[in-house]
Amino acid sequence: MLREQAGYLSGQQICERLEVSRTAVWKAVNSLRKDGYEIEAVQNKGYRLLAAPDIISEEELRSRMKTKWAGRQAVYLEEVDSTNTEAKRRAEAGAPHGCLIVAGKQNAGKGRRGRGWSSPVGDCVYMSLLLRPPFAPDKAPMLTLVMALSGAQAVEEASGLSCGIKWPNDLVVNGKKMCGILTEMSTEVDYIHHVVIGVGYNVNNSSFPKELEDMATSLAIEAGRRFCRMDFIERTMFYFEKNYENFLEAGDMSALREMYEGFLLNKDRAVRVLEPGNEYEAVARGITATGELLVEKENGESVRVYAGEVSVRGIYGYV
Ligand code: BTN
Repeated sequence: MLREQAGYLSGQQICERLEVSRTAVWKAVNSLRKDGYEIEAVQNKGYRLLAAPDIISEEELRSRMKTKWAGRQAVYLEEVDSTNTEAKRRAEAGAPHGCLIVAGKQNAGKGRRGRGWSSPVGDCVYMSLLLRPPFAPDKAPMLTLVMALSGAQAVEEASGLSCGIKWPNDLVVNGKKMCGILTEMSTEVDYIHHVVIGVGYNVNNSSFPKELEDMATSLAIEAGRRFCRMDFIERTMFYFEKNYENFLEAGDMSALREMYEGFLLNKDRAVRVLEPGNEYEAVARGITATGELLVEKENGESVRVYAGEVSVRGIYGYV
């Protein structure tokens, strides 16, 4: 209620809406203050929220989410093996489309291609969104691009920094990766049981291990200030819901392609395509309606590059 109120909210209004006593309101305000919320109390005016701490909790998730389904049912766990694994367990147990799992720390965070994802407590966002899409499994890889687009929009809006996408789904700020996305699914040949899209944002990290320093960054390092992690969760769900609905309606990336290409750092840049047994250099031109990277070879030939089958590296660095 305090967050939604532009000015002061009187104790009386809170009592009436929640049907509790003045003392109960006062106690709740003090308990929020203990958690780090700055709440001003002025006689005859009421309460006003001045600042919220960088806390992720189920209450924060519940009170902030304005979406219809994406993240509307949200679970927060202090510690988990991997939010993707937890989302898959809950999917098997019947959790609904749009269920979001967020954790404070992961003991076995997963990266792409069987790698790990370092997941210390405090500075990052670890979350996984469960989807039960109505389409065939061959379309699922595009969901990773839909999430990358939504993440880039969320990062730009919440941080004010310029964020790009390294195809298919790394988010990059000032040439370094600050977010990874891992999509997993459970399918039959022609039917998707569920898809889990995991997103890890480096938000307030102040440094990275030596071996990652050249490639990885956080928003705090790039902006020189800390951010509230909930802002990124809330906005990612907001944009994902919108983009997913456009994706569903179009049946592919055609409705989102222009927006995605607006963030695409590889566009018109030289890339090295690492196809097993066949490496070559080409210039990336954009994406197809089905999400492949379109590259132009030296001889002018246009080739579609499939995520999952090949990697793409910039020839002058990570992007
Ligand atoms: C990558 O390799 O770039 C993908 C990294 C994905 C990390 C996120 S963190 C939340 C979710 N849970 C996981 O175990 N992995 C993803």
